[in-house]
Amino acid sequence: MGNTEDALGVPCARTAAGKGKEAMTKDDKRIIRIFDTTLRDGEQAPGCSMNHQEKLEVALALEALRVDTIEAGFAIASPGDFESVRQIAKQVRDVRIASLARAVPADIQRAWEALRGAQAPVIHVFLATSPIHMEYKLKMTADQVFERAREMVALAASLAPEVEFSAEDASRSDWDFLCKVYGAVLAAGAATINIPDTVGYASPEEFGAMVAYVMKNTPGIEKAVVSVHCHNDLGLAVANSLAAVRAGASQIECTINGLGERAGNASLEEVAMALKTRTEYFGCDTNLDTRRIYRTSRLVSAVTGAPVQINKAVVGQNAFAHEAGIHQHGVMANALTYEIMSPESIGVPRKNMVLGKHSGRHAFEQRIQDMGFQTTREELDVLFARFKELADRKRTVTDRDIEALMGVGVAEDKPGLYKLERFVINSGNTITATATVRLLREGVPVEQVATGDGPVDAMFTAINRIVGVKFTLTDYTLRAVTEATDAQGEATVKIRRDAGIFNGRGISTDVLEATAKAYVNAINHMLETKE
Ligand code: KIV
Ligand code: ZN
Repeated sequence: MGNTEDALGVPCARTAAGKGKEAMTKDDKRIIRIFDTTLRDGEQAPGCSMNHQEKLEVALALEALRVDTIEAGFAIASPGDFESVRQIAKQVRDVRIASLARAVPADIQRAWEALRGAQAPVIHVFLATSPIHMEYKLKMTADQVFERAREMVALAASLAPEVEFSAEDASRSDWDFLCKVYGAVLAAGAATINIPDTVGYASPEEFGAMVAYVMKNTPGIEKAVVSVHCHNDLGLAVANSLAAVRAGASQIECTINGLGERAGNASLEEVAMALKTRTEYFGCDTNLDTRRIYRTSRLVSAVTGAPVQINKAVVGQNAFAHEAGIHQHGVMANALTYEIMSPESIGVPRKNMVLGKHSGRHAFEQRIQDMGFQTTREELDVLFARFKELADRKRTVTDRDIEALMGVGVAEDKPGLYKLERFVINSGNTITATATVRLLREGVPVEQVATGDGPVDAMFTAINRIVGVKFTLTDYTLRAVTEATDAQGEATVKIRRDAGIFNGRGISTDVLEATAKAYVNAINHMLETKE
């Protein structure tokens, strides 16, 4: 690819620094490419694994959010990863799809096999360049690393129309060595060179200076997309990414909710809203439809079981909540007094009461559309039935309730081996809790009774007896979706079997039912992944 437009017809950042600069500007702003790695680096976060269906769901949401590239996985890591990349490549057409590969032929071949059905495939080759990684991890000399990077990028470029090369641990590498390696991989056919701060070690001024140095001293860089990939070990991933943009970088790699290895990656929503809110300072924008940020964040939280901290910038529950009277007064007089961006700009649903048990299907469908969700007729049938059940139990159904129904729907509606049919709990502070639980196993009822240290313990023990497979509960959380006592409870459960961690979610106005559903979902997830 060397044209002013890429395979998707999107003006290509590769041309930004070169001849095609005019094609890049939207109202005189540089367009920064957003490379989303939620499904690869994000999924590497402990306890954040997703199954095929969930990954596809997230990929479709990212496409609708209009990210420029989705890194769908690491094809050689497992047959499951391979299949996810392949399915996403086949079904998500309006965005570049990347797969990660180490700088070895088997990885590159496997990435290409998974990607070959994509509309715009990208093989992402990486190799470490820092002294510590070369000596202790790779056991290679700098010359060997240089040669290997060049050869493997040439191999990838002989297969795929677009190749990205990452110098792993770039921020702890020798700058001149980096420029030499980047120059060689560009000559070998890479379109993008990525500068990762793999261990989150850099600080903004230093990282910006490094990007500027690479851009000044790498042969052939004027035609390249210069990307950055920052980790958040010191809480600086977003600041470092933005400093890199100021220094001339044209792509940011990031994840929804900042998920990722250890402390995570740069958070997409923070990067995007910083560029948008401070557009006069950065002189940049993205292709994102930022109004889809909030719902994408909720979806990723739902499928990974990783809650968003309440004071998280942009998407946290408190991000637009004004508590102090003086702030509330200011916002009522003029929202700009304390709001630098509007909730609507990221698609936060209004908190008003919307529907009740007399609301019909039409009103429900309209509300869902107003909230920006798209559903098939079949999905709508399931959701409407759920809404009716909820409206029977709860006086008013708010947008937040509906949003929770939509998010959890991803995990709950998927048919699994087991389904909760009913349970009875006998519990109190002076008796031993007893639970009778009936599950349907492929439609056939199976029932068990157990006692336990409280109702949840008794219920989980009864379910364990039905399932008869050994695993460990690693996490269980319960939170109220809305404020009143008839609020829906949202339960999240994580279980571990061997090296795998599987999550499940459940929602109900009855917190024990939410808990049982979450537990059964996690078990289904585990059994399905095993198979
Ligand atoms: O953090 C890192 O260096 C990576 C590379 C594979 C890009 O994730
Ligand atoms: Zn990373």
